[in-house]
Amino acid sequence: MIPDSVVEEVRARADLVSLIGEEVALKRSGKEFKGQCPFHDDRTPSFYVVPGKGFYKCFGCGESGDAFSYLMKRRGLDFVEAVKEVGRRSGVEVRESGDGPREDPHRHLREANAFARDFYRSALEGEEGTAAREYLKGRGLDPETVEAFELGHAPAGWRNLREAAGAHGIGDEVLLEVGLLTTSERSPDPYDRFRNRVIFPIHDGSGKVVAFGGRTLEEGGKGGPKYLNSPESPIYHKGEVLYGLYRARHAIRREEAVLVVEGYMDVVSLAAEGWPNAVAPLGTSLTPEQASLLARYTKRAVLLFDSDPAGLRATFRAGDVLLAQGVHPSVVTLPPGEDPDTVIRRDGAEALRGHLEGAVDVLDRKLGILEEKDYFSSIDRTRRAVDRLLPTLRAARDSTLRDLYVAKVAERTGVRRGTLLEEMAREGPGTAHGRSRTGRRADRSGRAPGTRKRGAGGGLSVPPMGPERKLLHLLLRTRDWVERAAERLGPSDFDDPAYREIFEALVEDPVLSEPPGDLSPTAARRLQELLEDPEELLHAGRVFEESAAQMRARSLDRNLRKVNEKLAGAGSDAERRALLAEKDRLRRERNQISPDWSSTARRAVRARPGSP
Ligand code: UTP
Ligand code: MN
Repeated sequence: MIPDSVVEEVRARADLVSLIGEEVALKRSGKEFKGQCPFHDDRTPSFYVVPGKGFYKCFGCGESGDAFSYLMKRRGLDFVEAVKEVGRRSGVEVRESGDGPREDPHRHLREANAFARDFYRSALEGEEGTAAREYLKGRGLDPETVEAFELGHAPAGWRNLREAAGAHGIGDEVLLEVGLLTTSERSPDPYDRFRNRVIFPIHDGSGKVVAFGGRTLEEGGKGGPKYLNSPESPIYHKGEVLYGLYRARHAIRREEAVLVVEGYMDVVSLAAEGWPNAVAPLGTSLTPEQASLLARYTKRAVLLFDSDPAGLRATFRAGDVLLAQGVHPSVVTLPPGEDPDTVIRRDGAEALRGHLEGAVDVLDRKLGILEEKDYFSSIDRTRRAVDRLLPTLRAARDSTLRDLYVAKVAERTGVRRGTLLEEMAREGPGTAHGRSRTGRRADRSGRAPGTRKRGAGGGLSVPPMGPERKLLHLLLRTRDWVERAAERLGPSDFDDPAYREIFEALVEDPVLSEPPGDLSPTAARRLQELLEDPEELLHAGRVFEESAAQMRARSLDRNLRKVNEKLAGAGSDAERRALLAEKDRLRRERNQISPDWSSTARRAVRARPGSP
């Protein structure tokens, strides 16, 4: 909060003509100044600045305001920043009431990071930094960009930073706490975490360095992983920070869009090529916290992830997370295996611009992919397509956007709007605890509630290997098959509610490695057991086919029984005809299932007396 009196003083002292004059050629006309409007494509000068009254107005597009709103609109500053900026220009000291020298309990940690940033930067400039400088140049980065992102170089060797920091009075404990030093079993004596790497400082919302990313300069995986990041610390929670956001925030407001990319290098290359509005999550999928940070600056996000299957999954997951925060995502499809940086390097910035112009709404992209995979060719597959679209419909928080989405899905699938709305209102997979699956964060924060509490939720010991369990067992070991299974089976093909939940979780995140936090305790426990189950099933391919067929046969039989019951009580001819057509369709699919498996399935059905 800036006291009102200060705001008024700054407003009164603002030199509007010189501020706007930096961008617009203004001509005096009486007490006013006139020029071409910076807010729209103005041919006739219709933009007026009235310095005496401290405001501007355009008679072409209607924009008007004062020095603060000008900076907010043109430079993407927020109000407080705008007041500070105008104050700075006219020599008024502006302080927020909370600005005083409040004690920061983690100041020593931030100071250690600031020291390290400076150390790495001067190392990059020095003689030992030659190779790193060449590397950055080779990746197309000019010195200004390197400087702007405060990139640095961690020298090879085990104790360079430690010694320099020590000489500066920064002790090992502090460096260990922020993860600049580390220890190992073999070497309990602390040593530098980052060695022979290009360093990317990570800034928090107020521009302080809270962590680092380091890219190896060593070829062929000799120097450890390609990227190494600071661990979490009292000042760094990776799910709550976005790489590049501090620097990009004004541009994001100005451009009214944020580009979300996967890597450090993408953010930096994009900025170097004239897209200063890019950010990257830090080696994890986008979290709700990160999405809500972005929502402060813009309602529009453009996702530029790899287009391989993993990248697509990340895209749609991020898409749902953004929708839930009221941000509207669109998706750029880069050629497989490419990232924005490689596109720029190989094909140039114009090529990337072309891709950006081809961005499509996230739901359209999802529909397109389902279409490519032939999901709308039959009733059953369309049913499954709807299952896969529902999370996105549910996620859309903006009510207008949600209406548009529902209308589009209704049109594409032939499912009535009302039915879709009912399905949306029904608990989505895993919403049993009141949070949508898309909002989960357990896989990132490790805060999965109670997932390892064995024995929770019922006294059943390990259930027998029925087809559902077998199938999940296989899917967990051969994740490539999840997609295949999702094409053939829907959640309703699972009798057991816990297995159904696990299946839904897998379809959404085929690479999951622990129970997501929103799974019911029973499902979480079963999933944990399955993940830890050492048993290897022989003839996996055949077991997969058999299990899927049995399950499908079982639910077709069940549906046939239901249709027969309804037929017995059918009133009108029209109803009878519809039911007979449905019965015919079910029978035909049922007959396609191999007789072998159907007999196994019948046995399986009979062998379930007294099961829930
Ligand atoms: P990529 O492997 O796609 O790297 O990882 P990149 O950004 O294209 O890297 P360059 O272009 O080869 O330099 C994308 C992001 O995933 C995280 C980093 O945040 C990286 O930017 N990552 C990757 C890690 O944290 N550790 C790794 O070992 C690899
Ligand atoms: Mn890359």
